[in-house]
Amino acid sequence: MPIVSIAREGDIAVVTIDNPPVNALSQALRQALLEAAETLDADPDVRAAVLLCAGRTFIAGADVTEFGKPPQPPHLPDVIARIEAAAKPWVAAIHGSALGGGLEVALGCRFRVAVADASVGLPEVTLGIVPGAGGTVRTPRLAGAVAAVELATTGKPVRAPKARDIGLVDAVVGGDLRAAAIAFAREALGKPLPGPASRRAVEVPDPAFWTGQEAAIAKRARGEIAPLKALACVRHAVEAPFDDAMAFERETFLALRGSAQAAALRHVFFAERAAPRPAHLAGVAPLPVRRAGVIGGGTMGAGIAAALRDAGLPVTLIERDEEAVARGLANVGAIFEGAVKRGRLTDAQAADRMAGISGTADHAALADVDLVIEAVFEEIGVKRAVFAQLATACRPDAVLATNTSYLDPRAIAVGLPNPGRFIGLHFFSPANIMKLLEIVPVPETAPETLATGFALARSLGKVPVQAGICEGFIGNRILKRYRAGAEALVRRGVAIAAIDAAMRDFGFAMGPFEAQDLGGLDIAFLQREGARAAGRDTPETLGDILVRAGRKGQKTGGGWYDYAPGERKPLPSVTVAELIAPAVAGGETLPRAAIADYLVAEMAAEGAAILAEGIARRPEDIDLVEIHGYGFPRWRGGPMHLRGAVGTQR
Ligand code: 3HC
Ligand code: NAI
Repeated sequence: MPIVSIAREGDIAVVTIDNPPVNALSQALRQALLEAAETLDADPDVRAAVLLCAGRTFIAGADVTEFGKPPQPPHLPDVIARIEAAAKPWVAAIHGSALGGGLEVALGCRFRVAVADASVGLPEVTLGIVPGAGGTVRTPRLAGAVAAVELATTGKPVRAPKARDIGLVDAVVGGDLRAAAIAFAREALGKPLPGPASRRAVEVPDPAFWTGQEAAIAKRARGEIAPLKALACVRHAVEAPFDDAMAFERETFLALRGSAQAAALRHVFFAERAAPRPAHLAGVAPLPVRRAGVIGGGTMGAGIAAALRDAGLPVTLIERDEEAVARGLANVGAIFEGAVKRGRLTDAQAADRMAGISGTADHAALADVDLVIEAVFEEIGVKRAVFAQLATACRPDAVLATNTSYLDPRAIAVGLPNPGRFIGLHFFSPANIMKLLEIVPVPETAPETLATGFALARSLGKVPVQAGICEGFIGNRILKRYRAGAEALVRRGVAIAAIDAAMRDFGFAMGPFEAQDLGGLDIAFLQREGARAAGRDTPETLGDILVRAGRKGQKTGGGWYDYAPGERKPLPSVTVAELIAPAVAGGETLPRAAIADYLVAEMAAEGAAILAEGIARRPEDIDLVEIHGYGFPRWRGGPMHLRGAVGTQR
């Protein structure tokens, strides 16, 4: 198939784009579209054109792989201007997604029709840029400034019916899209043509609207450049003439395209897309997972059960006794109730989620599950006993997974009759929300079991990263180094609050000490104590001193900070200063940027060791772990990207 082909239905031309996988606007496609516009204008028998895309989607946008290189003509704004100026009206026929440059092409067409489950949007800010071909300029002219600001500054797409309601799409059509778009074009030809988007009038909001938006964006997208720039573009678009606004948008787009934030976000974009289908598992078929079991209905088990139900899998939840079963089910129920309160689920959806989960203390209920995930206490004896029970209760081909954080999965798997079906699936809390899934094979794990872990991640909407076996796998091992680095600064006299502030400035929602106070210092303490008991070299930390003094975090009224009763605001603590004074030498002050540089370098150094040991397969995976498991700011690209270990992206 040529990249653009033209067919005829009487006096309507059908222009079909076929540029797999997602019809991205490569240089070749831009050129071919320009030529199609010329050809159709020169053909006296054509009265209108329908623009259709082959494959899974309408145009998904500019070709992101071209962003690292200088722009090549024909430039997209010129191609769109040519389509908009065509002597015959073009009708964009949208299925899948019309995103970024894809929506911009559609906005250059005189009309847009879409199937009901199509979506349209301007996701450029998620790539650290703004629309570069009229997205911020034509959108307000069709849908108003308020809708344009929402689309361009959040990057969130909207479904076709909403797009029609705001004026971005002319009709939502059912049945065959090609036929519907041709029929739409014929009908349109019988009426006076509306003007092109560029010539439509636009209402100018009052200045308070812009200042309100600026404040909201600065709060929501702290540290990110692109969303505020997108706002500036929309403002320019409604206050300045069309051509000026186009020039301003293009200039902003080109400046951001070469920015560090855009490079970081592109890096994450490609890392995320490569993660679910690793090359070493190409051709390995995952095992089917139709029913799942979860052992343990505590914090993690309940969250994992909720995640499995969100993906539509029936779940059997096993607890120790009937009382614990009731508690476990109540834990899952509370998760769905919370989702209803936040408007993420309807009552009916929550009820349906709960209807698909059965709780019991009887392992016989696991006879027909395809996958079991164990999330019981972090104790080797308890876990081994659970897997011994699973080995007899489950089918021999069922995948048996552990959610252990720190235990050696090999030790858990000892004695299993079919270790090829065993694997670590390390979820992050809250398991139904956090996107990261560390997948930890043992040496015996069969390739299809590993592939099943990745397939499960895809169906749960998670970002899977394969990790080798070491204490803490990838994420918690780096976390340990990060916290040790932060403590090292405290030992040099840097203020605890200064370190937290530095990491917030860097883009984390919380600094390392505030985060420990929220989550509790005791879990890591107990883990260190366990290591000490096992004879592993584990130096005393400042956290140990605090826990021994009863300061386990917010839940005990204080940890690294003091807290007023009922308050969550961290207050620097005189008690802590006194407790740790013997370990602190000096009174160093460091600029915030230097603190962040040091701690990120520590994370990257641990990442480099993890790579060298083969615990992580790719530096990109380490960045995904940090971004999706630990709140590393996405627009920074991750510690390995910052360190330059990833190399230039595509
Ligand atoms: N450029 C280049 N490659 C792209 C691409 C793009 N815009 N969008 C997707 N791809 C590639 C992916 O890397 C992946 O490649 P692979 O198979 O080699 O790994 C392949 O297409 C399929 O992508 P997905 O796995 O994401 O496919 P899905 O079917 O799950 O999703 C989609 C389809 C919703 C279109 C999704 O790919 C997507 O959101 N793409 C990004 C859209 C985007 O951000 N567009 C804006 C670009 S910036 C722009 O247009 C600037 C303009 O204003 C000038
Ligand atoms: P939890 O204490 O909240 O829940 C454990 C549950 O297991 C309890 O409800 C208990 O009744 C049940 N249980 C114990 N023995 C059982 C048995 N033999 N059969 C059935 N149920 C049994 O613990 P949490 O936090 O949910 O942790 C579970 C596992 O997940 C641990 O291995 C932990 O390391 C791991 N993990 C914890 C994370 C967290 O943030 N809490 C994050 C990732 C992993």
